[in-house]
Amino acid sequence: MNRLIIHNIGQLLTLCGASDRPKTGSALSDLGIIENGCVAIEGETIAAVGTEQEVWNRIRQRWGERLSVEVEVEVEAEVDVIDAGGRVVMPGMVDPHTHLVFAGTREYELEMRLQGATYLEILQAGGGILATTRQTRQATEEELLRQASSRLDRFLQYGVTTVEAKSGYGLDWKHEWKQLRVARRLHETHPVDVVSTFMGMHAVPEEYRNNPDRYVDIVVDEIIPQVADKGLAEFCDVFCEKGVFSLEQSRRVLEAGKRHGLMPKIHADEMESMGGAELAAELGAISADHLLRVSDRGIRRLADTGVIAVLLPGTAFYLMAPFARARDMIEAGVAVALSTDCNPGSSPTMSMPMILNLACLHMKMTPAEAISAATINAAHAIGRGRKIGSLEEGKQADLVLLDAPHYAFLQYHFGINLIDTVIKKGRAVVK
Ligand code: NIG
Ligand code: FE
Repeated sequence: MNRLIIHNIGQLLTLCGASDRPKTGSALSDLGIIENGCVAIEGETIAAVGTEQEVWNRIRQRWGERLSVEVEVEVEAEVDVIDAGGRVVMPGMVDPHTHLVFAGTREYELEMRLQGATYLEILQAGGGILATTRQTRQATEEELLRQASSRLDRFLQYGVTTVEAKSGYGLDWKHEWKQLRVARRLHETHPVDVVSTFMGMHAVPEEYRNNPDRYVDIVVDEIIPQVADKGLAEFCDVFCEKGVFSLEQSRRVLEAGKRHGLMPKIHADEMESMGGAELAAELGAISADHLLRVSDRGIRRLADTGVIAVLLPGTAFYLMAPFARARDMIEAGVAVALSTDCNPGSSPTMSMPMILNLACLHMKMTPAEAISAATINAAHAIGRGRKIGSLEEGKQADLVLLDAPHYAFLQYHFGINLIDTVIKKGRAVVK
């Protein structure tokens, strides 16, 4: 079993103490920092976390009395040691909302939008999600795998060790299944863990343009049961938006998902305030995402019911839309998480550091709040709070070393990739 010690850590951000429930309010600012920290890893798991002295004492008892930094190679050949050189170590980031698996790109839509077309107008004219659906349907499974795998490589280089991935560019059983198979194969073969969400309700497919309710029937009666039967996804998501799927259609599908064991998520109140957050609260969704135009009542309902707000400032930035009211949400006691929303139309990025930067400069989150939102709270938003998102004994050893002396450099040194080393399940996968 591999053994690894990372020592001489200037700031060790443990994010400890929130494995049972996400951080809210002032707890978001507490990164559980240990100065002069050290982490010991055994196999895929964190064996000890603490100050340099605490950790060495602890592991000497377990791994051998004579172990020390100086003699480690001779005494215990199987123990690797990384000297962090006084830099920052933090949990691998978790991206709880991506549309990872798709074919093709849509760079041409940027110019259309700069000339005044809106995102929804492009979709209604058969572009947008529908353009990506045509390309995704045509692509072979291997081609989709290749494209999504290179996106995952990029996520890893930017410090992300787990992503959620939605289907939703198939819009029929055959092609949704293909996308979900790709996500599963990536989970099995790529260092980044992939958690799947079924999102057949991403747009009304062109075949059902004149009869969208018929498509909703098919999703409810045929597709969801098969997704659940084959164990292809843990969550069910819907694009609840004016001109896409109504509140009633969204409720129907999310309830059907729930009956089949798929936990609800929702693209809520993105372009219009239409009660998506309230629906998430009513259904006990694990998260409500986007929320650019959430109502005050929606915010209160999220706080009261413990639905996590997954905020996607990359989308507001790229669509030139108003940013979500993160401060109001935090003050109301909502658990906030952050994500890239990586997709080919509204947020074509895999950079979580960029998202942290936008969260601070455009949503007025502090650097510490943003880091909590991108680690432990993001883990909770995909039901993984007990396994990842913080550095604590027994948790999966997913962590990153920043080429920076202080965590706030992540937001301060913008446009620069400060990720130096990425450890996934105890092994260095980027260095
Ligand atoms: O989360 N809003 C809907 N879905 C994605 C965009 C998908 C696309 O444009 O391809 C989003 O922004
Ligand atoms: Fe999305």
